[in-house]
Amino acid sequence: MGRLSRKTALITGGGRGQGRSHALVLASEGANVVVTDICEPIPEVVPYDTATQADLDETARMVEKLGGQCLALKADARSSADMQSVVDRTIERFGSIDILVVNHGVAINLPWDQQTDEIWDAVVEANLSGPWRVVRPVIPHMVQQGAGSIVFTSSVAAVTSYPSLSAYSAAKAGVLGLMRSLATELGPHSIRVNAVLPGNTGTPMLHSQSVLDMFNGGPGGPREKMIFPSQATMLMPIPWVEPEDISRAVLFLASDESRYVTGIALPVDAGTLNQPPGIPGIAATRIAELEAQLAAQD
Ligand SMILES: NC(=O)c1ccc[n+]([C@@H]2O[C@H](COP(=O)([O-])OP(=O)(O)OC[C@H]3O[C@@H](n4cnc5c(N)ncnc54)[C@H](O)[C@@H]3O)[C@@H](O)[C@H]2O)c1
Repeated sequence: MGRLSRKTALITGGGRGQGRSHALVLASEGANVVVTDICEPIPEVVPYDTATQADLDETARMVEKLGGQCLALKADARSSADMQSVVDRTIERFGSIDILVVNHGVAINLPWDQQTDEIWDAVVEANLSGPWRVVRPVIPHMVQQGAGSIVFTSSVAAVTSYPSLSAYSAAKAGVLGLMRSLATELGPHSIRVNAVLPGNTGTPMLHSQSVLDMFNGGPGGPREKMIFPSQATMLMPIPWVEPEDISRAVLFLASDESRYVTGIALPVDAGTLNQPPGIPGIAATRIAELEAQLAAQD
């Protein structure tokens, strides 16, 4: 018996990256899984490719290979009509929605003076209004069941500072407001609402050229060049966490092991949010190593 036996999990942005990983981890614990993704580029505003229909189909194939049941649906999380249809088809196929993981998102990093109103609106639409449109049609089912776990994917960017990420950070901070308010309203129905805050996570989003450029301080650098600056944001000696590290936190929040945990924002960031002010942890470690070497020479 898995920790999620007889439960159904709906995951947005499941075509690749963290969403695919969540599908595999939750399915490996016995959940039926419904994965959705936009499966189309958003070329006007998002400077990298989003997942394709083939990516989403591959997630479903991987879940089924694990022995799980998977329904893969192309749906735009910004569309109430699409998300209502996803909810209807999920109920038709599996009879319930016990776990909702609102994971989809886009990252657009631009300095304030290059960020047009169109781009601001697009980021907020995808990363804040989208989560609302996803959660709204699910809540009535969970209220009727008298149970449910909702997990939003926010970001460390919601609570600490990154340059050139103002719209993204604002939207992800908004997700925390949505999470906390819903936790208050839905607690009396035994529905728990929480968020994960991923730090830098090794997915196509982190390794898109525009994000590489942000870390590298200029355009066109290769992935290897971002390893040091990315690691400098963390206390632990890694450049980024893996999607499965986020999935393990999602699993905890989705399962009954966290049955009285609600309204929290759980960082999975190798210590990014606990950096000492003014000096990156990695620099502090290097200085300590150097001091030890110098002391040994005396
Ligand atoms: N990778 C990181 O370093 C990092 C850090 C903090 C937070 N996050 C957040 O984690 C979540 C997952 O991102 P990821 O790292 O797996 O990136 P990713 O780009 O690999 O995956 C995001 C998925 O969301 C889908 N998507 C985007 N817009 C959509 C829409 N309107 N409707 C449906 N699907 C849509 C994309 O097609 C893609 O499959 C996002 O919310 C992201 O903002 C990522």
